[in-house]
Amino acid sequence: MTDNAKLSIGDKSLEYPVLKGTVGPEVVDIRKFYGQSGRFTYDPGFTSTASCESKITYIDGDQGVLLHRGYPIEQLSEESSFMEVAYLLLHGELPNPDQHDDFVRTITRHTMVHEQLAMFYRGFRRDAHPMAIMCGVVGALSAFYHDSTDIDDPAQRMIASHRLIAKMPTIAAMAYKYAVGQPFLHPDNSLSYTGNFLRMTFGVPAEPYEVNPVVEKALDRIFILHADHEQNASTSTVRLAGSSGANPFACIAAGIACLWGPAHGGANEAALNMLREIGRPERIPEYIARAKDKNDPFRLMGFGHRVYKNYDPRATVMQKTVREVLGALGVDDPVFEVALRLEELALSDDYFAEKKLFPNVDFYSGIILSAIGFPTTMFTVLFALARTVGWVAQWNEMIEDPEQKIGRPRQLYTGATARDYIPLDKR
Ligand code: ACO
Repeated sequence: MTDNAKLSIGDKSLEYPVLKGTVGPEVVDIRKFYGQSGRFTYDPGFTSTASCESKITYIDGDQGVLLHRGYPIEQLSEESSFMEVAYLLLHGELPNPDQHDDFVRTITRHTMVHEQLAMFYRGFRRDAHPMAIMCGVVGALSAFYHDSTDIDDPAQRMIASHRLIAKMPTIAAMAYKYAVGQPFLHPDNSLSYTGNFLRMTFGVPAEPYEVNPVVEKALDRIFILHADHEQNASTSTVRLAGSSGANPFACIAAGIACLWGPAHGGANEAALNMLREIGRPERIPEYIARAKDKNDPFRLMGFGHRVYKNYDPRATVMQKTVREVLGALGVDDPVFEVALRLEELALSDDYFAEKKLFPNVDFYSGIILSAIGFPTTMFTVLFALARTVGWVAQWNEMIEDPEQKIGRPRQLYTGATARDYIPLDKR
């Protein structure tokens, strides 16, 4: 049995239970802290705070371990498919063949979007960032599916989850088509989840589209690598939005908004832009020096992580996938050379070693996505597509959690104390 945590504050001596997970650090249960001490705890950025109990994903940032429902990401990305991982995250177990076929059939049957949804796209400027379109259009789904918005009904929750997973590729491909001025393509249900997305993105109605199996496999693997990452900023956003009982489609739109930021999902776009800007290996030292300079806001994009203080296991898989895709497509991208050299130089530099800054999932993903033909503005959209699986799994888990409460953090108030209003003409 673990001892209680003891805390002295003022003349009070308080004790708090220490909770043990199946693996990972123990957690001090401070739920009664305010009631007993009249004080709050202060933890901006939640660096020490567990916001929920979860059985979905486990990360050991020091060891570079990522497990989904206990399965290592290396095995899942090597041996399974994105649909299998989606089932695993949602249901807790890998599907048997019948469950797998049923799940794929269900997702496939939900890939079409309401024709009226297309009108939302036309309201955006042609040059709108596709993530701006994703925030708007996914939020708009909440207006279309009233039959699946009773979040207290598990069956309705599952339909909403299936719809989100199924429609995301269609919505993402439409965002791309709108930007390039080509007609939207309806899904082709004879294709795989990922093959269908490739066709809706790069196909045109004027001619048949053949899915390249190496690209299909690589993109499916990229989806697996982005499927979930426990309580990251966008997932916590989805949980927080959902904690008020909000519409699930609106909650996912909130997650998309959070993911867009360059410190989170937007880093893959920023990382490739940075590698292109560096351009040649000879210029790397200049950028490393800038990243180390306290007076320069520049950071090495695709480097560092709040949780991983070791190599991000997803970056290892991603680096291998770059070679496969560039080889299969016959693309010789000098940016890959720059990335490999930058990684080598940064990892041998004391600054990065001391701060435990390693390449993260975003460092190499942009090179693959660019070789496949995606513009940089679509990178975070692909991340959102894949992460939708994690978001809906975490959202379902939250709703089912008997301990769930509306999320309502406290604050350390440092503003003005009470003062009297002064009329405008007296100021
Ligand atoms: N380049 C240079 N220095 C860095 C970098 C970087 N990429 N990342 C962190 N540091 C330094 C910081 O300046 C800080 O130094 P200090 O202690 O001397 O002030 C120290 O390392 C710790 O950094 P924090 O920002 O405090 O760490 P935090 O955990 O809050 O940030 C984050 C993590 C946001 C990912 C950060 O490493 C970063 O900005 N990286 C670049 C953006 C990026 O790649 N984001 C993708 C994350 S993965 C994902 O979302 C899928």
